[in-house]
Amino acid sequence: MKKVFGVQGDPIEHSLSPAMHNAAFRKLKMDCEYHAFRVMKKNLKDAIQGAQAMGFGGLNITVPHKEKALEFTNPDTLARRIGAVNTVSFNDGIRGHNTDGLGAELALREAGVGIKSSNVVLVGAGGAARAIAFHFAEKGACVTIANRTPEKAEVLAEDVGCSHAGIEDLKGLLQDSDILINATSVGMHPHIDATIANRDILHPDLAVFDIVYNPLQTKLLHQAELAGAKPINGVAMLVHQGAEAFRIWTGQKPPVEVMRKAVLEGLD
Ligand code: ATR
Repeated sequence: MKKVFGVQGDPIEHSLSPAMHNAAFRKLKMDCEYHAFRVMKKNLKDAIQGAQAMGFGGLNITVPHKEKALEFTNPDTLARRIGAVNTVSFNDGIRGHNTDGLGAELALREAGVGIKSSNVVLVGAGGAARAIAFHFAEKGACVTIANRTPEKAEVLAEDVGCSHAGIEDLKGLLQDSDILINATSVGMHPHIDATIANRDILHPDLAVFDIVYNPLQTKLLHQAELAGAKPINGVAMLVHQGAEAFRIWTGQKPPVEVMRKAVLEGLD
């Protein structure tokens, strides 16, 4: 019988996950389909348990439910430490996972950038930054967190066991760094003229990774290019977090290029 998968969030109509996963299922000739479900906060528990009761193959959880979903799943160690779930599997009860940090690592890796022993400046202290900070620290990166609201950077750095610094120190921080990550919404459509850094504080030995994928070419990535740094856009993270969810649910090797093509077509 056909297996159903889905993403639960609110709002959800612009999600690219259905296109991405359905393309993967078609490519592997799997009798599965993936849908987007608008779920209100008060219904999240029922929606997750209902999906299990109805024999769903798996779920993604997106904004604004990633933190709340922790309560309604049995989270793995990483999801528990991050405090957020973006993937739910039903192979062994209701398990919560978080593939966002691994998605970011794989996005960098495919651009030829390794994270082990690298000096990473992570800007942001929200959900995306948390996932990246925990995963990168676990993989042996030396992470420094900077955020507009310094108290939040401090709390996250303490949770992870890494450093934090003032956002006004970005220039100095970047001098000895290998990777700059924008894990904020700065530069996202429609605020496309905003950037966390300009070319004058970037340098050619830096990889600049922006988790924003709309627009694909953010102002930050343009500034990175002008500075001779290596720009990496957020589509790769979106694709790889999805690909790792696909691997968890199905045990199959995800067809990453097919998934990427579906996302890029959806962004047009
Ligand atoms: P997400 O789950 O996508 O990470 P979030 O939890 O709302 O979203 O976090 C958004 C992040 O972007 C925060 O780090 C936020 O900084 P604050 O903690 O100071 O709010 C950051 N952010 C959003 N708009 C910003 C702006 N205009 N300038 C700087 N940082 C901004």
